[in-house]
Amino acid sequence: EKGGWSSFMAKEISEQPEAVANTLLGRSADGAVHIPELDGLDDTLRGIERIVILGCGTAAYAGMIGKYAIEKWARIPVEVDLSHEFRYREPVIDERTLVLSISQSGETMDTLMAVKYAIEAGAKTISICNTQGATIARESDAVIYTHAGPEVAVASTKALVAQVTAVYLFGLHLARLRGTLGTAEASVLLAELQAVPAKLATVLEQHAEIRELAHWMSDTRSVLFLGRHVGYPVALEGALKLKELAYIHAEGFAAGELKHGPIALIEPGQPVFVVVPSPRGADSLHPKVVSNIQEIRARGARVLAIAEAGDASVLPYADKVFTIPPASAFFEPLLAFAPLQIFAMELAAAKGLDVDQPRNLAKSVTVE
Ligand code: BG6
Repeated sequence: EKGGWSSFMAKEISEQPEAVANTLLGRSADGAVHIPELDGLDDTLRGIERIVILGCGTAAYAGMIGKYAIEKWARIPVEVDLSHEFRYREPVIDERTLVLSISQSGETMDTLMAVKYAIEAGAKTISICNTQGATIARESDAVIYTHAGPEVAVASTKALVAQVTAVYLFGLHLARLRGTLGTAEASVLLAELQAVPAKLATVLEQHAEIRELAHWMSDTRSVLFLGRHVGYPVALEGALKLKELAYIHAEGFAAGELKHGPIALIEPGQPVFVVVPSPRGADSLHPKVVSNIQEIRARGARVLAIAEAGDASVLPYADKVFTIPPASAFFEPLLAFAPLQIFAMELAAAKGLDVDQPRNLAKSVTVE
């Protein structure tokens, strides 16, 4: 079943280009996004005033990325909450609120209960789900299925890239309905999304090089991760993967927050992964992140960068650079997750751990 791979996780990481491609299938025509599953909801989607995205763990990070994209493209306020926090804080929601839940299994009890709470409160509900006919999908007004195929390893990988793809499709669908993006601009974004599978396949070619680093770092006690904008949830996911799989203390930070506290953690030899934004684009955060790299490097950090191919500016300060093909800001996460997933998996493997079944975790948590 593992098809020659050492673990389901390794296999599922390798299947990510297809997970993105299959999730895109049948959801666009003539350069515009159209999600047939949402037919009949056009008036509802034109009328909503805000969106609340819900999920747990990795799915919540897909939601954070979705917030950046939906707000930018469809100009609707988006809030992201962990499903288990949501319904215990008397959230302000009504019939003008859309609750978008994200769940690979579609059975996570925390998310299911949050969706039920939202329905009671009169909100509209759409779910992004990877399992046909799952409970959350059935409870929702509509479902956008991700087509990642069955995910067996407990730690989510291919489901995540499919979730980000789906949430981007949803953002573009919404932008078209609400007229917030020019046709040309929207079709450029769609084309970038469609270019992800081929680019992601080239990122995966660095597997052996990442394995080498992971093996070399197998005694590491703590790793930090930095990113900005959509790179921030990538940093959080990199840290989560390392905790889940390799049982190593890890934390992800928004790079801008560094000076407000986390920089105190930097001492000589501290490994820090940095997700570097593309240097292109007028509003690029690249210079700010490069200056963060200089700050931590000056304090002795070991800098492990994920940067765009050809970005020479990080080379003088990084101990190791993994490259991703050029892509505009929103599409970088889809390329930058893989090196972090592979790093965590290979480090866990180097420690002799079971990467598919980490201790204390379950694939689908059906208790609250
Ligand atoms: C956790 C899993 O328990 O649930 C994570 O270990 C997953 O991998 C999270 O991201 C959410 O699961 P789901 O099925 O709701 O996406």
